[in-house]
Amino acid sequence: MKINGIHYRSVWLASDGYTVEIFDQTKLPFEVQTIQLRTMQDAATAIKEMWVRGAPLIGAVAAYGMALAMHQESSDESLQQAYNVLVKTRPTAINLKWALERTYRVLENLEHSQRETTAYRIANEIANEDVEFCHKIGEHGLKIIQSIAETKSTGETVNILTHCNAGWLATVDWGTALAPIYMAHDVGIKVHVWVDETRPRNQGGLTAFELGSHGVPHTLIADNAGGHLMQHGKVDLCIVGTDRTTARGDVCNKIGTYLKALAAKANQVPFYVALPSPTLDLTVWDGVKEIPIELRSGEEQSHVYGITPEGLRSWVNTAPHGTSCENYAFDVTPAELITGLITERGICDASAEGLRALFPDLCG
Ligand code: MRU
Repeated sequence: MKINGIHYRSVWLASDGYTVEIFDQTKLPFEVQTIQLRTMQDAATAIKEMWVRGAPLIGAVAAYGMALAMHQESSDESLQQAYNVLVKTRPTAINLKWALERTYRVLENLEHSQRETTAYRIANEIANEDVEFCHKIGEHGLKIIQSIAETKSTGETVNILTHCNAGWLATVDWGTALAPIYMAHDVGIKVHVWVDETRPRNQGGLTAFELGSHGVPHTLIADNAGGHLMQHGKVDLCIVGTDRTTARGDVCNKIGTYLKALAAKANQVPFYVALPSPTLDLTVWDGVKEIPIELRSGEEQSHVYGITPEGLRSWVNTAPHGTSCENYAFDVTPAELITGLITERGICDASAEGLRALFPDLCG
Protein backbone atom coordinates (compact mmCIF):
# COMPACT_ATOMS: atom_id res chain seq x y z
CA MET A 1 0.00 0.00 0.00
CA LYS A 2 1.07 3.59 -0.29
CA ILE A 3 2.43 6.42 1.83
CA ASN A 4 2.50 9.75 -0.01
CA GLY A 5 1.93 7.92 -3.30
CA ILE A 6 4.90 5.56 -2.84
CA HIS A 7 4.28 1.83 -2.52
CA TYR A 8 5.68 0.10 0.55
CA ARG A 9 5.53 -3.25 2.24
CA SER A 10 5.81 -3.33 6.02
CA VAL A 11 9.01 -5.42 5.89
CA TRP A 12 11.59 -5.72 3.10
CA LEU A 13 15.22 -6.60 2.44
CA ALA A 14 17.80 -3.85 2.03
CA SER A 15 19.94 -3.74 -1.12
CA ASP A 16 22.76 -5.68 0.61
CA GLY A 17 20.41 -8.70 0.46
CA TYR A 18 20.52 -9.58 4.15
CA THR A 19 19.62 -6.54 6.29
CA VAL A 20 15.90 -6.45 7.09
CA GLU A 21 14.07 -3.11 7.06
CA ILE A 22 10.85 -2.21 8.84
CA PHE A 23 8.89 0.86 9.86
CA ASP A 24 9.15 1.73 13.53
CA GLN A 25 5.43 1.46 14.27
CA THR A 26 5.87 2.97 17.73
CA LYS A 27 6.64 6.27 15.94
CA LEU A 28 3.64 6.09 13.61
CA PRO A 29 1.34 7.85 12.87
CA PHE A 30 3.42 10.91 13.77
CA GLU A 31 6.73 10.01 12.12
CA VAL A 32 7.54 7.64 9.28
CA GLN A 33 10.87 6.17 10.35
CA THR A 34 12.55 3.01 9.10
CA ILE A 35 14.79 0.75 11.18
CA GLN A 36 17.41 -1.72 9.98
CA LEU A 37 17.55 -5.15 11.62
CA ARG A 38 21.01 -6.71 11.26
CA THR A 39 20.96 -9.49 13.84
CA MET A 40 18.52 -12.08 15.14
CA GLN A 41 18.47 -10.15 18.42
CA ASP A 42 17.40 -7.00 16.51
CA ALA A 43 14.46 -8.93 15.05
CA ALA A 44 13.53 -10.23 18.51
CA THR A 45 13.64 -6.70 19.93
CA ALA A 46 11.53 -5.37 17.04
CA ILE A 47 8.78 -7.88 17.84
CA LYS A 48 9.01 -7.60 21.63
CA GLU A 49 9.05 -3.79 21.67
CA MET A 50 6.29 -3.66 19.05
CA TRP A 51 8.29 -1.78 16.42
CA VAL A 52 6.44 -4.34 14.33
CA ARG A 53 3.13 -5.79 15.41
CA GLY A 54 0.08 -7.54 13.96
CA ALA A 55 0.01 -11.34 13.77
CA PRO A 56 1.05 -11.89 10.11
CA LEU A 57 3.83 -9.29 10.27
CA ILE A 58 5.17 -10.75 13.51
CA GLY A 59 5.38 -14.12 11.71
CA ALA A 60 7.24 -12.66 8.72
CA VAL A 61 9.73 -10.73 10.88
CA ALA A 62 10.35 -13.84 13.00
CA ALA A 63 11.19 -15.78 9.82
CA TYR A 64 13.61 -13.03 8.79
CA GLY A 65 15.02 -13.23 12.32
CA MET A 66 15.89 -16.89 11.68
CA ALA A 67 17.57 -15.85 8.42
CA LEU A 68 19.59 -13.16 10.21
CA ALA A 69 20.68 -15.76 12.78
CA MET A 70 21.88 -18.04 9.96
CA HIS A 71 23.72 -15.11 8.37
CA GLN A 72 25.54 -14.58 11.66
CA GLU A 73 26.28 -18.25 12.44
CA SER A 74 24.71 -21.32 10.84
CA SER A 75 25.49 -23.91 13.56
CA ASP A 76 22.88 -26.11 15.26
CA GLU A 77 23.32 -24.08 18.47
CA SER A 78 22.63 -20.82 16.64
CA LEU A 79 19.53 -22.31 14.97
CA GLN A 80 18.16 -23.59 18.27
CA GLN A 81 18.94 -20.37 20.08
CA ALA A 82 17.25 -18.25 17.39
CA TYR A 83 14.10 -20.37 17.69
CA ASN A 84 14.14 -20.21 21.50
CA VAL A 85 14.64 -16.44 21.64
CA LEU A 86 12.18 -15.50 18.89
CA VAL A 87 9.36 -17.79 20.05
CA LYS A 88 9.28 -16.03 23.43
CA THR A 89 8.95 -12.49 22.03
CA ARG A 90 5.13 -12.37 22.14
CA PRO A 91 2.75 -15.06 23.40
CA THR A 92 -0.60 -14.71 21.65
CA ALA A 93 -0.25 -14.41 17.86
CA ILE A 94 0.21 -17.97 16.57
CA ASN A 95 1.79 -16.79 13.31
CA LEU A 96 5.03 -16.34 15.26
CA LYS A 97 5.32 -20.02 16.18
CA TRP A 98 3.98 -21.11 12.80
CA ALA A 99 6.69 -19.17 10.91
CA LEU A 100 9.46 -20.30 13.25
CA GLU A 101 8.46 -23.97 13.03
CA ARG A 102 8.14 -23.83 9.25
CA THR A 103 11.67 -22.44 9.04
CA TYR A 104 13.23 -24.61 11.75
CA ARG A 105 11.88 -27.86 10.32
CA VAL A 106 13.58 -27.23 6.97
CA LEU A 107 16.85 -25.83 8.31
CA GLU A 108 17.54 -28.52 10.90
CA ASN A 109 17.95 -31.12 8.13
CA LEU A 110 20.28 -29.03 5.97
CA GLU A 111 24.05 -28.74 5.70
CA HIS A 112 25.17 -25.65 7.60
CA SER A 113 26.44 -24.08 4.38
CA GLN A 114 22.92 -24.13 2.88
CA ARG A 115 21.08 -22.74 5.86
CA GLU A 116 21.46 -19.01 5.29
CA THR A 117 20.26 -18.99 1.66
CA THR A 118 17.40 -21.33 2.49
CA ALA A 119 16.31 -19.30 5.52
CA TYR A 120 16.12 -16.12 3.42
CA ARG A 121 14.20 -18.03 0.72
CA ILE A 122 11.65 -19.25 3.29
CA ALA A 123 11.28 -15.81 4.88
CA ASN A 124 10.69 -14.28 1.43
CA GLU A 125 8.17 -17.04 0.68
CA ILE A 126 6.31 -16.35 3.94
CA ALA A 127 6.21 -12.61 3.18
CA ASN A 128 5.06 -13.11 -0.42
CA GLU A 129 2.46 -15.68 0.59
CA ASP A 130 1.07 -13.24 3.14
CA VAL A 131 0.62 -10.60 0.44
CA GLU A 132 -1.15 -13.15 -1.78
CA PHE A 133 -3.38 -14.39 1.06
CA CYS A 134 -4.34 -10.87 2.11
CA HIS A 135 -5.12 -9.94 -1.50
CA LYS A 136 -7.44 -12.96 -1.73
CA ILE A 137 -9.05 -12.08 1.62
CA GLY A 138 -9.70 -8.65 0.11
CA GLU A 139 -11.40 -10.15 -2.94
CA HIS A 140 -13.62 -12.45 -0.86
CA GLY A 141 -14.48 -9.75 1.69
CA LEU A 142 -15.27 -7.30 -1.10
CA LYS A 143 -18.27 -9.47 -2.04
CA ILE A 144 -19.75 -8.92 1.44
CA ILE A 145 -19.37 -5.16 1.15
CA GLN A 146 -20.75 -5.25 -2.40
CA SER A 147 -23.84 -7.14 -1.29
CA ILE A 148 -24.50 -4.64 1.52
CA ALA A 149 -23.98 -1.74 -0.91
CA GLU A 150 -26.60 -3.31 -3.21
CA THR A 151 -29.22 -3.17 -0.43
CA LYS A 152 -28.75 0.59 -0.12
CA SER A 153 -30.07 3.38 -2.29
CA THR A 154 -27.62 4.64 -4.87
CA GLY A 155 -24.93 6.80 -3.40
CA GLU A 156 -25.58 5.72 0.20
CA THR A 157 -22.45 4.92 2.18
CA VAL A 158 -21.57 1.51 3.66
CA ASN A 159 -20.39 2.09 7.25
CA ILE A 160 -17.88 -0.42 8.56
CA LEU A 161 -16.51 -0.62 12.09
CA THR A 162 -13.05 -2.03 12.74
CA HIS A 163 -11.01 -2.55 15.89
CA CYS A 164 -7.23 -2.24 16.32
CA ASN A 165 -5.11 -2.24 13.17
CA ALA A 166 -5.55 -5.18 10.83
CA GLY A 167 -4.32 -3.30 7.78
CA TRP A 168 -1.13 -3.47 5.74
CA LEU A 169 0.98 -2.36 8.71
CA ALA A 170 -0.14 -5.49 10.58
CA THR A 171 0.59 -7.79 7.64
CA VAL A 172 3.16 -7.56 4.84
CA ASP A 173 0.76 -5.72 2.52
CA TRP A 174 -2.99 -5.08 2.09
CA GLY A 175 -4.03 -6.18 5.57
CA THR A 176 -6.71 -8.65 6.56
CA ALA A 177 -9.75 -6.70 7.85
CA LEU A 178 -8.81 -3.64 5.81
CA ALA A 179 -8.11 -5.42 2.49
CA PRO A 180 -11.83 -5.74 1.56
CA ILE A 181 -12.31 -2.08 2.52
CA TYR A 182 -9.44 -0.91 0.28
CA MET A 183 -10.82 -2.97 -2.59
CA ALA A 184 -14.38 -1.68 -2.08
CA HIS A 185 -13.08 1.89 -2.11
CA ASP A 186 -10.98 1.18 -5.22
CA VAL A 187 -13.96 -0.19 -7.17
CA GLY A 188 -16.00 2.92 -6.34
CA ILE A 189 -18.23 1.70 -3.50
CA LYS A 190 -18.82 4.51 -1.02
CA VAL A 191 -17.37 3.25 2.25
CA HIS A 192 -16.78 4.96 5.56
CA VAL A 193 -14.87 3.33 8.42
CA TRP A 194 -15.50 3.81 12.13
CA VAL A 195 -12.02 3.36 13.56
CA ASP A 196 -11.87 2.25 17.21
CA GLU A 197 -9.15 4.16 19.03
CA THR A 198 -8.00 0.84 20.59
CA ARG A 199 -6.61 1.85 23.92
CA PRO A 200 -4.21 1.34 25.52
CA ARG A 201 -1.77 1.37 22.57
CA ASN A 202 -3.98 3.30 20.16
CA GLN A 203 -3.53 1.06 17.13
CA GLY A 204 -6.60 2.90 15.77
CA GLY A 205 -4.15 5.73 14.98
CA LEU A 206 -2.32 3.32 12.64
CA THR A 207 -5.60 2.40 10.97
CA ALA A 208 -6.52 6.07 10.56
CA PHE A 209 -3.05 6.73 9.12
CA GLU A 210 -3.40 3.89 6.59
CA LEU A 211 -6.94 4.75 5.55
CA GLY A 212 -6.01 8.43 5.25
CA SER A 213 -2.99 7.58 3.06
CA HIS A 214 -5.30 5.60 0.75
CA GLY A 215 -8.07 8.24 0.71
CA VAL A 216 -10.67 6.06 2.47
CA PRO A 217 -13.16 8.17 4.49
CA HIS A 218 -12.98 7.30 8.18
CA THR A 219 -13.72 8.62 11.66
CA LEU A 220 -11.78 7.81 14.82
CA ILE A 221 -14.06 6.94 17.76
CA ALA A 222 -13.59 6.14 21.44
CA ASP A 223 -13.56 2.42 22.11
CA ASN A 224 -16.83 2.72 24.00
CA ALA A 225 -18.73 4.37 21.13
CA GLY A 226 -19.36 1.32 18.94
CA GLY A 227 -22.43 0.03 20.81
CA HIS A 228 -24.10 3.42 20.62
CA LEU A 229 -23.41 3.69 16.88
CA MET A 230 -24.81 0.20 16.30
CA GLN A 231 -27.99 0.98 18.27
CA HIS A 232 -28.55 3.96 16.00
CA GLY A 233 -28.13 2.04 12.75
CA LYS A 234 -24.81 3.70 11.94
CA VAL A 235 -22.82 0.50 11.46
CA ASP A 236 -23.60 -1.84 8.54
CA LEU A 237 -20.95 -4.38 9.41
CA CYS A 238 -17.88 -4.99 11.53
CA ILE A 239 -14.67 -6.52 10.20
CA VAL A 240 -11.75 -7.27 12.50
CA GLY A 241 -8.56 -9.31 12.36
CA THR A 242 -7.33 -12.10 14.62
CA ASP A 243 -4.13 -13.25 16.29
CA ARG A 244 -5.25 -16.85 16.72
CA THR A 245 -8.31 -18.72 15.53
CA THR A 246 -9.23 -22.05 17.08
CA ALA A 247 -10.45 -25.30 15.52
CA ARG A 248 -14.04 -24.45 16.48
CA GLY A 249 -13.79 -20.87 15.18
CA ASP A 250 -13.19 -18.85 18.36
CA VAL A 251 -11.12 -15.78 17.61
CA CYS A 252 -8.50 -14.11 19.79
CA ASN A 253 -7.93 -10.48 18.83
CA LYS A 254 -7.06 -7.13 20.38
CA ILE A 255 -8.67 -6.45 23.75
CA GLY A 256 -12.17 -5.03 23.25
CA THR A 257 -13.01 -7.11 20.18
CA TYR A 258 -15.29 -9.33 22.31
CA LEU A 259 -17.36 -6.36 23.50
CA LYS A 260 -17.81 -5.19 19.89
CA ALA A 261 -18.97 -8.67 18.90
CA LEU A 262 -21.51 -8.70 21.77
CA ALA A 263 -22.85 -5.30 20.73
CA ALA A 264 -23.01 -6.43 17.10
CA LYS A 265 -24.99 -9.56 18.03
CA ALA A 266 -27.42 -7.54 20.15
CA ASN A 267 -28.00 -5.12 17.29
CA GLN A 268 -28.09 -7.65 14.40
CA VAL A 269 -24.95 -6.14 12.84
CA PRO A 270 -22.90 -8.72 10.86
CA PHE A 271 -19.55 -9.37 12.55
CA TYR A 272 -16.82 -10.79 10.30
CA VAL A 273 -13.26 -11.82 11.12
CA ALA A 274 -10.60 -11.80 8.40
CA LEU A 275 -7.62 -14.17 8.62
CA PRO A 276 -4.95 -15.84 6.58
CA SER A 277 -4.62 -19.59 7.34
CA PRO A 278 -1.31 -19.20 9.28
CA THR A 279 -3.46 -17.58 11.99
CA LEU A 280 -5.31 -20.87 12.56
CA ASP A 281 -4.30 -22.86 15.62
CA LEU A 282 -6.07 -26.17 15.15
CA THR A 283 -4.46 -27.58 18.29
CA VAL A 284 -6.78 -25.33 20.32
CA TRP A 285 -10.53 -25.86 20.64
CA ASP A 286 -11.78 -23.54 23.41
CA GLY A 287 -10.14 -20.15 22.88
CA VAL A 288 -11.25 -18.70 26.23
CA LYS A 289 -9.71 -21.52 28.23
CA GLU A 290 -6.67 -22.33 26.14
CA ILE A 291 -5.18 -19.24 24.44
CA PRO A 292 -2.46 -17.43 26.42
CA ILE A 293 -3.38 -13.77 26.73
CA GLU A 294 -0.49 -11.33 26.72
CA LEU A 295 -0.39 -9.23 29.88
CA ARG A 296 1.52 -6.03 29.18
CA SER A 297 2.92 -3.30 31.38
CA GLY A 298 0.35 -1.34 33.41
CA GLU A 299 2.18 1.80 32.39
CA GLU A 300 0.62 1.48 28.92
CA GLN A 301 -2.74 1.82 30.69
CA SER A 302 -1.89 4.74 32.95
CA HIS A 303 -0.02 6.65 30.23
CA VAL A 304 -0.56 7.61 26.65
CA TYR A 305 1.69 8.81 23.83
CA GLY A 306 0.79 12.01 22.05
CA ILE A 307 2.32 14.80 20.09
CA THR A 308 2.67 18.29 21.55
CA PRO A 309 1.85 21.43 19.52
CA GLU A 310 5.63 21.79 19.10
CA GLY A 311 5.71 18.40 17.37
CA LEU A 312 7.43 16.56 20.24
CA ARG A 313 6.35 13.05 21.13
CA SER A 314 5.24 12.99 24.74
CA TRP A 315 4.39 10.19 27.19
CA VAL A 316 1.62 11.58 29.38
CA ASN A 317 0.20 10.20 32.63
CA THR A 318 -3.61 9.99 32.74
CA ALA A 319 -4.06 8.22 36.11
CA PRO A 320 -3.42 9.18 39.72
CA HIS A 321 0.17 8.42 40.63
CA GLY A 322 0.55 4.84 41.88
CA THR A 323 -2.81 3.57 40.56
CA SER A 324 -2.77 -0.17 40.08
CA CYS A 325 -3.32 -1.00 36.39
CA GLU A 326 -3.88 -4.24 34.51
CA ASN A 327 -3.30 -4.40 30.82
CA TYR A 328 -4.64 -7.45 28.98
CA ALA A 329 -3.65 -7.16 25.33
CA PHE A 330 -6.17 -9.59 23.80
CA ASP A 331 -9.54 -11.20 24.38
CA VAL A 332 -11.42 -14.12 22.87
CA THR A 333 -14.62 -13.79 20.87
CA PRO A 334 -16.53 -17.09 20.94
CA ALA A 335 -17.47 -18.51 17.54
CA GLU A 336 -21.22 -18.09 18.11
CA LEU A 337 -20.84 -14.29 17.98
CA ILE A 338 -19.11 -14.38 14.59
CA THR A 339 -21.08 -14.14 11.32
CA GLY A 340 -18.26 -15.54 9.19
CA LEU A 341 -14.52 -16.00 8.74
CA ILE A 342 -13.02 -14.39 5.64
CA THR A 343 -9.98 -16.42 4.57
CA GLU A 344 -7.78 -16.67 1.50
CA ARG A 345 -9.87 -19.65 0.37
CA GLY A 346 -13.26 -17.99 0.79
CA ILE A 347 -15.76 -17.25 3.55
CA CYS A 348 -16.92 -19.89 6.01
CA ASP A 349 -18.93 -20.24 9.20
CA ALA A 350 -16.95 -19.78 12.39
CA SER A 351 -17.23 -23.47 13.23
CA ALA A 352 -15.23 -26.68 13.00
CA GLU A 353 -17.37 -27.73 10.01
CA GLY A 354 -16.89 -24.39 8.27
CA LEU A 355 -13.12 -24.50 8.69
CA ARG A 356 -12.93 -28.16 7.67
CA ALA A 357 -14.83 -27.43 4.45
CA LEU A 358 -12.29 -24.76 3.43
CA PHE A 359 -9.15 -26.31 4.91
CA PRO A 360 -9.54 -30.11 4.74
CA ASP A 361 -5.76 -30.40 4.25
CA LEU A 362 -5.03 -28.55 7.52
CA CYS A 363 -7.89 -29.96 9.58
CA GLY A 364 -6.85 -33.58 8.89
O1 MRU B 1 -0.82 -6.00 19.79
P1 MRU B 1 -0.89 -5.93 18.29
O2 MRU B 1 -0.89 -4.54 17.75
O3 MRU B 1 0.16 -6.82 17.65
O4 MRU B 1 -2.29 -6.57 17.95
C1 MRU B 1 -2.71 -6.67 16.62
C2 MRU B 1 -4.08 -7.17 16.48
O5 MRU B 1 -4.76 -7.45 17.44
C3 MRU B 1 -4.61 -7.36 15.08
O6 MRU B 1 -5.98 -7.13 15.03
C4 MRU B 1 -4.33 -8.80 14.66
O7 MRU B 1 -2.97 -9.12 14.78
C5 MRU B 1 -4.76 -9.07 13.28
S1 MRU B 1 -3.63 -8.33 12.14
C6 MRU B 1 -4.00 -8.61 10.57
